[in-house]
Amino acid sequence: MTTFDINWVRSQFPALAVKVNGFPAAFFDGPGGTQVPQRVIEAISGYLAASNANQHGAFATSRRTDEVLAAAHAAMADLLGCDAAETVFGANMTSLTFTLSRALGRELQPGDEIVVTRLDHDANVSPWTALEERGCVIRWVDIHPEDCTLDMEDLRRQVTAHTRVVAVGYSSNAVGTINDIEEVVRLAHAVGAIAYIDAVHYAPHGPIDVRKLDCDFLVCSPFKFFGPHSGVLYGKREHLQRLRPYKVRPAVDRIPGRWETGTQNHEAMAGVAAAVNYLADLGRRHTPEAQGQRAAILAAYDAIRAYEQGLLAQLVPALLEIPGLTFYGIKEPARFGERVPTVAVRIAGRSPRELAAYLGERGIFTWDGNYYALNLSERLGVEPRGGMLRIGLVHYNTAEEVDRLLAALRALAPRA
Ligand SMILES: Cc1ncc(COP(=O)(O)O)c(C=O)c1O
Repeated sequence: MTTFDINWVRSQFPALAVKVNGFPAAFFDGPGGTQVPQRVIEAISGYLAASNANQHGAFATSRRTDEVLAAAHAAMADLLGCDAAETVFGANMTSLTFTLSRALGRELQPGDEIVVTRLDHDANVSPWTALEERGCVIRWVDIHPEDCTLDMEDLRRQVTAHTRVVAVGYSSNAVGTINDIEEVVRLAHAVGAIAYIDAVHYAPHGPIDVRKLDCDFLVCSPFKFFGPHSGVLYGKREHLQRLRPYKVRPAVDRIPGRWETGTQNHEAMAGVAAAVNYLADLGRRHTPEAQGQRAAILAAYDAIRAYEQGLLAQLVPALLEIPGLTFYGIKEPARFGERVPTVAVRIAGRSPRELAAYLGERGIFTWDGNYYALNLSERLGVEPRGGMLRIGLVHYNTAEEVDRLLAALRALAPRA
């Protein structure tokens, strides 16, 4: 195993050279969308230059398009640990989740229950609460506000004999908590319910194995893991075959095509395969003996996780020493294995917007507000006060960038 080659990583991402007011840009906005390696840009423009067509035609560019789309499905199957036919592309996670909730809704009855959580992004909440129109009952799982973890006892209470769907996030896009998904799936299956997992925020940070999780569905968004704007849904083959999507008649009825409504974003799909390739290359650099694409991807996540944990150990204790700072989420280094490096804070006397604007002027990109984790922001009581400042680290960030961020935040702290 070699040490993490941050210079090679950064050399892959042209956007990291951006400057703002003379400052090099420090991208801590990854949870809203990450930067992309050069090869992703080339795959997108290369597709448009040489293969641009619709699918299933009897001519060269259409045949090349069929190959590009098949490669994108295969790449996502390698990333998620499933078959290519179990991967469905779409505009983004939100659209795919509405597609699925509508299709599932066709077979739900009044009184059927759906479990959602207060930790989740609204894209794994509103598509389910929409089914109240059909008489479904929504049950809410609470959090432990002191460390922003999911209240698993409450989850056990909310899952009943009437539960048909349990919708839970793999990791919080606001405070970074990783949930015990294997246990969530086990609880859902114990009552015959479907487990729908939102892995959008987990995918840039940790390995996903849908077979091991045994989840029924899992969604992610390539633009959060170094690819272009698009969404991908994994569904167990039997569900994708059995459930009835809303579709047009001439479109194929095979999986996964029956779920991919209309013409897809072909150039983005070309870019997704390149993003997965980037991860595999990173893994092979770290673990040259990794055999095959899936093993290389898993090696990449080993390397990413170890490196990110180092940045987290630098960031969190230093944040906690800033006067007037409130930290939301898991803060004990011994428990960092239960979180990804996405942290949310407030500083007394400053709105999160003010903090983000000050940092932004200095080339440090963070988010303020609720980032659509609306129920969490309300539960923590910060929604009426502008939410929280979110600092989202990924593996192309550096210790120097974290130092710059800390120095800038110290300058904003209230004087004693
Ligand atoms: C955890 C989580 N779930 C869902 C979404 C929605 O994803 P998309 O923008 O692809 O619809 C996001 C985006 O911020 C997210 O962070």
